[in-house]
Amino acid sequence: MSANQNVLEINSISVCFDGFYALTEVKTSVKRNTIHFFIGPNGAGKTTLLDIICAKTLPTSGTVIFYPKDREPVRLTGMKEYKIVTEGVGRKFQVPSVFVNLTVEENMMLSLKGHKGIADSIFRRISKDEKENISRTLERVGLKDRAPIRAGSLAHGEKQWLEIAMQLLQKPEIIMLDEPAAGMGKPETFRTGEILKEIKSECTVIVIEHDMDFVKQCADVVTVLHEGKLLTEGSVSDVLADKTVQAVYLGRGGE
Ligand SMILES: Nc1ncnc2c1ncn2[C@@H]1O[C@H](COP(=O)(O)OP(=O)(O)O)[C@@H](O)[C@H]1O
Ligand SMILES: [Mg+2]
Repeated sequence: MSANQNVLEINSISVCFDGFYALTEVKTSVKRNTIHFFIGPNGAGKTTLLDIICAKTLPTSGTVIFYPKDREPVRLTGMKEYKIVTEGVGRKFQVPSVFVNLTVEENMMLSLKGHKGIADSIFRRISKDEKENISRTLERVGLKDRAPIRAGSLAHGEKQWLEIAMQLLQKPEIIMLDEPAAGMGKPETFRTGEILKEIKSECTVIVIEHDMDFVKQCADVVTVLHEGKLLTEGSVSDVLADKTVQAVYLGRGGE
Protein backbone atom coordinates (compact mmCIF):
# COMPACT_ATOMS: atom_id res chain seq x y z
CA MET A 1 0.00 0.00 0.00
CA SER A 2 1.14 3.49 -0.73
CA ALA A 3 2.20 5.27 2.43
CA ASN A 4 1.65 8.70 0.94
CA GLN A 5 -2.03 8.10 0.16
CA ASN A 6 -1.54 8.13 -3.58
CA VAL A 7 -4.22 6.19 -5.39
CA LEU A 8 -2.55 6.57 -8.76
CA GLU A 9 1.00 7.15 -9.90
CA ILE A 10 1.72 8.20 -13.46
CA ASN A 11 5.39 7.52 -14.11
CA SER A 12 7.03 9.32 -17.02
CA ILE A 13 4.38 8.57 -19.60
CA SER A 14 5.22 9.27 -23.23
CA VAL A 15 2.95 8.48 -26.15
CA CYS A 16 4.11 8.70 -29.71
CA PHE A 17 1.59 8.49 -32.58
CA ASP A 18 3.45 8.09 -35.89
CA GLY A 19 6.33 10.31 -34.80
CA PHE A 20 4.13 12.87 -33.02
CA TYR A 21 4.42 12.99 -29.22
CA ALA A 22 0.92 13.43 -27.76
CA LEU A 23 2.47 13.12 -24.29
CA THR A 24 6.09 13.59 -23.24
CA GLU A 25 7.40 12.29 -19.89
CA VAL A 26 4.26 13.14 -17.94
CA LYS A 27 4.81 12.37 -14.29
CA THR A 28 2.28 13.02 -11.54
CA SER A 29 0.27 11.34 -8.82
CA VAL A 30 -3.32 11.48 -7.67
CA LYS A 31 -4.23 11.43 -3.99
CA ARG A 32 -7.06 9.34 -2.60
CA ASN A 33 -10.44 11.07 -2.09
CA THR A 34 -9.50 14.20 -4.00
CA ILE A 35 -10.99 15.85 -7.06
CA HIS A 36 -8.03 16.09 -9.42
CA PHE A 37 -8.44 18.15 -12.58
CA PHE A 38 -6.42 17.92 -15.77
CA ILE A 39 -6.77 21.11 -17.77
CA GLY A 40 -5.05 22.60 -20.79
CA PRO A 41 -5.76 23.88 -24.30
CA ASN A 42 -7.18 21.64 -27.01
CA GLY A 43 -4.66 19.06 -28.11
CA ALA A 44 -2.74 19.25 -24.81
CA GLY A 45 -3.05 15.49 -24.38
CA LYS A 46 -5.74 15.31 -21.68
CA THR A 47 -7.93 12.68 -23.30
CA THR A 48 -4.84 10.72 -24.30
CA LEU A 49 -3.79 10.64 -20.65
CA LEU A 50 -7.18 9.22 -19.59
CA ASP A 51 -6.84 6.67 -22.40
CA ILE A 52 -3.47 5.68 -20.94
CA ILE A 53 -4.82 5.37 -17.39
CA CYS A 54 -7.66 3.10 -18.45
CA ALA A 55 -5.36 1.18 -20.82
CA LYS A 56 -7.27 2.05 -23.95
CA THR A 57 -3.95 3.28 -25.34
CA LEU A 58 -0.57 1.71 -24.62
CA PRO A 59 2.14 4.27 -23.83
CA THR A 60 5.40 4.32 -25.77
CA SER A 61 7.14 4.41 -22.39
CA GLY A 62 6.22 4.81 -18.74
CA THR A 63 3.78 3.09 -16.40
CA VAL A 64 0.61 3.83 -14.46
CA ILE A 65 0.29 2.17 -11.07
CA PHE A 66 -2.97 1.96 -9.14
CA TYR A 67 -2.84 1.63 -5.35
CA PRO A 68 -6.12 0.04 -4.21
CA LYS A 69 -7.18 0.67 -0.64
CA ASP A 70 -6.84 -2.85 0.72
CA ARG A 71 -4.86 -4.68 -1.90
CA GLU A 72 -1.43 -4.80 -3.46
CA PRO A 73 -0.60 -2.19 -6.13
CA VAL A 74 -1.81 -2.95 -9.63
CA ARG A 75 0.06 -2.02 -12.78
CA LEU A 76 -2.64 -0.69 -15.12
CA THR A 77 -0.31 -0.28 -18.09
CA GLY A 78 -0.61 -3.32 -20.33
CA MET A 79 -3.81 -4.59 -18.72
CA LYS A 80 -6.96 -5.34 -20.67
CA GLU A 81 -9.33 -2.38 -20.68
CA TYR A 82 -12.31 -4.35 -19.27
CA LYS A 83 -10.17 -5.70 -16.44
CA ILE A 84 -9.36 -2.21 -15.26
CA VAL A 85 -13.04 -1.54 -14.63
CA THR A 86 -13.28 -4.65 -12.47
CA GLU A 87 -10.17 -3.49 -10.60
CA GLY A 88 -12.09 -0.39 -9.54
CA VAL A 89 -11.23 2.28 -12.08
CA GLY A 90 -14.29 3.54 -13.93
CA ARG A 91 -14.58 5.97 -16.77
CA LYS A 92 -17.42 8.03 -18.10
CA PHE A 93 -17.07 9.01 -21.72
CA GLN A 94 -18.07 12.33 -23.16
CA VAL A 95 -21.13 11.06 -25.00
CA PRO A 96 -23.84 9.72 -22.67
CA SER A 97 -24.38 6.01 -23.14
CA VAL A 98 -27.58 5.37 -21.25
CA PHE A 99 -30.34 3.20 -22.72
CA VAL A 100 -32.91 5.79 -23.74
CA ASN A 101 -35.83 3.39 -23.90
CA LEU A 102 -35.30 2.06 -20.38
CA THR A 103 -36.22 3.92 -17.23
CA VAL A 104 -33.64 5.54 -15.00
CA GLU A 105 -34.05 2.72 -12.49
CA GLU A 106 -33.68 0.04 -15.18
CA ASN A 107 -30.47 1.66 -16.39
CA MET A 108 -29.22 1.47 -12.82
CA MET A 109 -30.18 -2.22 -12.59
CA LEU A 110 -28.18 -2.88 -15.73
CA SER A 111 -25.17 -1.30 -14.18
CA LEU A 112 -25.19 -3.42 -11.03
CA LYS A 113 -22.29 -5.75 -10.66
CA GLY A 114 -22.87 -9.33 -11.70
CA HIS A 115 -25.55 -8.63 -14.25
CA LYS A 116 -24.62 -10.33 -17.47
CA GLY A 117 -27.06 -9.27 -20.13
CA ILE A 118 -29.98 -6.96 -20.59
CA ALA A 119 -32.68 -9.61 -20.35
CA ASP A 120 -31.01 -11.29 -17.43
CA SER A 121 -30.74 -8.10 -15.46
CA ILE A 122 -34.12 -6.61 -16.15
CA PHE A 123 -36.12 -9.75 -15.67
CA ARG A 124 -34.13 -11.05 -12.76
CA ARG A 125 -35.61 -10.01 -9.45
CA ILE A 126 -33.29 -7.63 -7.73
CA SER A 127 -32.79 -7.90 -4.01
CA LYS A 128 -34.05 -5.41 -1.46
CA ASP A 129 -30.46 -4.38 -0.74
CA GLU A 130 -29.78 -3.74 -4.40
CA LYS A 131 -32.96 -1.73 -4.73
CA GLU A 132 -32.01 0.39 -1.73
CA ASN A 133 -28.52 0.85 -3.09
CA ILE A 134 -29.96 2.09 -6.38
CA SER A 135 -32.32 4.44 -4.63
CA ARG A 136 -29.62 5.82 -2.34
CA THR A 137 -27.24 6.37 -5.26
CA LEU A 138 -29.90 8.14 -7.32
CA GLU A 139 -30.58 10.36 -4.36
CA ARG A 140 -26.90 11.35 -4.17
CA VAL A 141 -26.97 12.64 -7.73
CA GLY A 142 -30.38 14.26 -7.28
CA LEU A 143 -32.32 11.86 -9.51
CA LYS A 144 -34.38 9.92 -6.99
CA ASP A 145 -37.69 11.26 -8.21
CA ARG A 146 -36.66 10.46 -11.79
CA ALA A 147 -36.37 6.70 -11.16
CA PRO A 148 -39.53 5.68 -13.10
CA ILE A 149 -38.89 8.06 -16.01
CA ARG A 150 -37.60 6.93 -19.40
CA ALA A 151 -33.91 7.88 -19.59
CA GLY A 152 -34.50 9.30 -23.08
CA SER A 153 -36.70 12.02 -21.65
CA LEU A 154 -34.12 13.26 -19.16
CA ALA A 155 -32.47 16.63 -19.70
CA HIS A 156 -28.86 16.55 -20.94
CA GLY A 157 -27.44 17.24 -17.49
CA GLU A 158 -29.60 14.61 -15.86
CA LYS A 159 -28.32 12.00 -18.32
CA GLN A 160 -24.76 12.83 -17.29
CA TRP A 161 -25.68 12.50 -13.61
CA LEU A 162 -27.37 9.17 -14.32
CA GLU A 163 -24.14 7.95 -15.87
CA ILE A 164 -22.19 9.06 -12.84
CA ALA A 165 -24.70 7.22 -10.64
CA MET A 166 -24.34 4.08 -12.80
CA GLN A 167 -20.58 4.25 -12.33
CA LEU A 168 -20.93 4.69 -8.58
CA LEU A 169 -22.91 1.46 -8.34
CA GLN A 170 -19.77 -0.41 -9.36
CA LYS A 171 -18.12 0.98 -6.23
CA PRO A 172 -15.08 2.31 -8.09
CA GLU A 173 -12.06 3.60 -6.21
CA ILE A 174 -11.40 6.02 -9.05
CA ILE A 175 -13.92 7.60 -11.37
CA MET A 176 -12.71 9.44 -14.47
CA LEU A 177 -14.83 12.04 -16.23
CA ASP A 178 -13.94 13.58 -19.58
CA GLU A 179 -15.62 16.99 -19.79
CA PRO A 180 -18.66 16.16 -17.66
CA ALA A 181 -20.02 19.71 -17.92
CA ALA A 182 -19.79 19.91 -21.73
CA GLY A 183 -23.06 21.22 -23.13
CA MET A 184 -24.37 22.17 -19.70
CA GLY A 185 -25.60 25.58 -18.62
CA LYS A 186 -24.30 27.32 -15.49
CA PRO A 187 -26.82 25.86 -12.99
CA GLU A 188 -26.30 22.30 -14.25
CA THR A 189 -22.53 22.73 -14.23
CA PHE A 190 -22.65 23.99 -10.67
CA ARG A 191 -24.79 21.07 -9.61
CA THR A 192 -22.33 18.67 -11.28
CA GLY A 193 -19.57 20.21 -9.17
CA GLU A 194 -21.63 19.71 -6.02
CA ILE A 195 -22.21 16.06 -6.99
CA LEU A 196 -18.47 15.52 -7.42
CA LYS A 197 -17.81 17.05 -4.00
CA GLU A 198 -20.44 14.75 -2.55
CA ILE A 199 -18.94 11.58 -4.03
CA LYS A 200 -15.26 12.25 -3.34
CA SER A 201 -15.64 10.93 0.20
CA GLU A 202 -16.09 7.51 -1.37
CA CYS A 203 -13.88 7.61 -4.41
CA THR A 204 -11.21 9.64 -6.13
CA VAL A 205 -12.46 11.80 -8.97
CA ILE A 206 -10.30 12.58 -12.01
CA VAL A 207 -11.80 15.23 -14.27
CA ILE A 208 -10.95 16.89 -17.55
CA GLU A 209 -12.72 20.20 -17.93
CA HIS A 210 -12.54 23.57 -19.65
CA ASP A 211 -14.92 25.62 -17.53
CA MET A 212 -12.73 27.55 -15.08
CA ASP A 213 -15.61 28.36 -12.74
CA PHE A 214 -16.24 24.65 -12.45
CA VAL A 215 -12.55 24.01 -11.73
CA LYS A 216 -12.56 26.76 -9.05
CA GLN A 217 -15.71 25.34 -7.50
CA CYS A 218 -14.46 21.87 -6.81
CA ALA A 219 -10.81 21.15 -7.70
CA ASP A 220 -8.48 19.99 -4.93
CA VAL A 221 -5.53 19.67 -7.30
CA VAL A 222 -5.08 20.95 -10.83
CA THR A 223 -2.55 19.62 -13.32
CA VAL A 224 -2.00 21.77 -16.39
CA LEU A 225 -0.94 20.07 -19.59
CA HIS A 226 0.34 21.92 -22.61
CA GLU A 227 1.51 20.35 -25.86
CA GLY A 228 1.79 16.98 -24.20
CA LYS A 229 3.90 18.19 -21.30
CA LEU A 230 3.11 18.88 -17.68
CA LEU A 231 3.26 22.65 -17.35
CA THR A 232 2.48 23.06 -13.66
CA GLU A 233 0.48 21.54 -10.88
CA GLY A 234 -1.00 22.64 -7.56
CA SER A 235 -4.06 24.19 -5.96
CA VAL A 236 -6.46 26.22 -8.10
CA SER A 237 -5.08 29.52 -6.82
CA ASP A 238 -1.45 28.45 -7.36
CA VAL A 239 -2.17 27.39 -10.90
CA LEU A 240 -4.19 30.48 -11.76
CA ALA A 241 -1.43 32.73 -10.42
CA ASP A 242 1.17 31.00 -12.58
CA LYS A 243 2.38 33.27 -15.37
CA THR A 244 3.05 30.47 -17.85
CA VAL A 245 -0.47 29.14 -17.29
CA GLN A 246 -1.92 32.58 -17.90
CA ALA A 247 0.07 32.82 -21.10
CA VAL A 248 -0.66 29.45 -22.65
CA TYR A 249 -3.97 28.45 -21.15
CA LEU A 250 -5.91 31.56 -20.39
CA GLY A 251 -4.62 33.18 -23.55
CA ARG A 252 -3.25 36.30 -21.84
CA GLY A 253 -0.11 37.37 -23.59
CA GLY A 254 -0.20 34.03 -25.34
CA GLU A 255 -2.47 33.28 -28.30
N1 LIG B 1 -4.95 7.97 -32.02
C1 LIG B 1 -4.28 9.07 -32.33
N2 LIG B 1 -3.47 9.10 -33.42
C2 LIG B 1 -2.78 10.21 -33.73
N3 LIG B 1 -2.82 11.35 -33.04
C3 LIG B 1 -3.62 11.40 -31.96
C4 LIG B 1 -4.39 10.27 -31.54
N4 LIG B 1 -5.09 10.63 -30.42
C5 LIG B 1 -4.74 11.90 -30.17
N5 LIG B 1 -3.87 12.36 -31.08
C6 LIG B 1 -3.27 13.71 -31.09
O1 LIG B 1 -2.67 13.92 -29.83
C7 LIG B 1 -2.86 15.26 -29.40
C8 LIG B 1 -3.53 15.27 -28.06
O2 LIG B 1 -4.90 14.89 -28.21
P1 LIG B 1 -5.92 14.79 -27.01
O3 LIG B 1 -5.35 13.92 -25.97
O4 LIG B 1 -7.23 14.39 -27.58
O5 LIG B 1 -5.96 16.29 -26.50
P2 LIG B 1 -6.99 17.03 -25.52
O6 LIG B 1 -7.93 16.01 -24.95
O7 LIG B 1 -6.13 17.68 -24.49
O8 LIG B 1 -7.70 18.04 -26.37
C9 LIG B 1 -3.66 15.95 -30.48
O9 LIG B 1 -2.75 16.67 -31.29
C10 LIG B 1 -4.30 14.83 -31.24
O10 LIG B 1 -4.51 15.17 -32.57
MG1 LIG C 1 -10.05 15.78 -25.02
